[in-house]
Amino acid sequence: MSAGKAPGKLPTVEFAPLGRTKEVKEGVTIIAAANRADVPIGQSCGGDGICGWCRVKVLHGMENLSAPTSLERQLMTACAFAPDERAACLAKVGGDITVTTGYW
Ligand code: FES
Repeated sequence: MSAGKAPGKLPTVEFAPLGRTKEVKEGVTIIAAANRADVPIGQSCGGDGICGWCRVKVLHGMENLSAPTSLERQLMTACAFAPDERAACLAKVGGDITVTTGYW
């Protein structure tokens, strides 16, 4: 999960096209990174993996995210996620990534 990250460097989450980035510790969810960067992100279930509103498109670094859990796989199927989309409340950052949404 740490591919794409130099030793000792914290993973960086870039929110495109907002031009905002946030360094986070490994294992932090995308939604937590967004909250820390003051980037608005949809959510209605509070991160329980139910609503799918936190869907983000991963533009770069999909390989640097945690593998989807069974809960996230279930959500991705139920909400018809595209292959390049992940649930921000469930996907954990392990290296540099760039994400976007249709409302940024
Ligand atoms: S916030 Fe509801 S599924 Fe992520």
